[in-house]
Amino acid sequence: MGFGRGKVILLGEHAVVHGFPAIAVGIDRGVTAEAVAAEKDILKLSPWDLAIAPDPRGAEPLERAFAKALGLYPTRPSLEVRAKVDLPAGAGLGCSAAIGVAVLDAIDEALGIERSRADLAHAALSWEKVFHGNPSGIDNTMSALGGVALYRKDQALRSLRSNKPLHLVIGYSGESSSTKEMVASVGRQLQADPERVNKAFQAIEVLVRNATLAIESGDHITLGQMLDLNHTLLSSLMLCTTKLDEMCQIARRAGALGAKMTGAGGGGCMFALAPKHEEALRLRDLLGEGSFVAQVGA
Ligand code: MEV
Repeated sequence: MGFGRGKVILLGEHAVVHGFPAIAVGIDRGVTAEAVAAEKDILKLSPWDLAIAPDPRGAEPLERAFAKALGLYPTRPSLEVRAKVDLPAGAGLGCSAAIGVAVLDAIDEALGIERSRADLAHAALSWEKVFHGNPSGIDNTMSALGGVALYRKDQALRSLRSNKPLHLVIGYSGESSSTKEMVASVGRQLQADPERVNKAFQAIEVLVRNATLAIESGDHITLGQMLDLNHTLLSSLMLCTTKLDEMCQIARRAGALGAKMTGAGGGGCMFALAPKHEEALRLRDLLGEGSFVAQVGA
């Protein structure tokens, strides 16, 4: 069975597209897939009830991405790939990358191809490019490799070690957004006002550095403060919505150590860092439908 994890970016989204570091975690929820020989190539996605034929010039990104994926295997039988998606789409949890990783993993397995998860992550970048144009590579890398890690474009992933688990609560705003559009919006701001936007990226980099130390030393109070500050910087880049802000406020008032939007923004998800598992469960109930707890690390 092929598997691609969802991911949560703890700090550094958007800046990471422009070469700055980011910290992300892989979560247990994601996409599973299997591939079997069939009469024609087809990608079936549940629970969306979609059947996608590969088409390099198709109107739908999934048609083009599937064609790209199959193009990586020059000699093969026709394949039916069945993928089961257990992540909200357009929510900042890396759904498209997780589908790509799971699909390639399933095809590898069906064809008896063995490759490392790092090579799988690399292969899935071409899938991700179909969706996002200019991806940093963080989503496909975390989807394939998981863990808690410091990521920088074109550099090897650095795992962050800690003996204290992170109790995360992920809340879904119910608003979907397009990563491509949000990345393009930041790109336009960078072009129009490079000084302001580069200052924001540099400030985010400082937060990422401090958060790295905080994670490794188990200092979740400091980590929470870094999350709150990163949220404010992302707001200054016009990436937050009223709903995401409200959800972060609710979590902080209810005892979260920190809370921020995650991923592309403009909708999608936020997350909160809880001091303990029981607190995480309480926050999940407060954040409402679609929210869930993810314990990562240690
Ligand atoms: C999307 O999950 C994260 C962004 O930084 C885009 C990217 O890194 O490719 C917004």
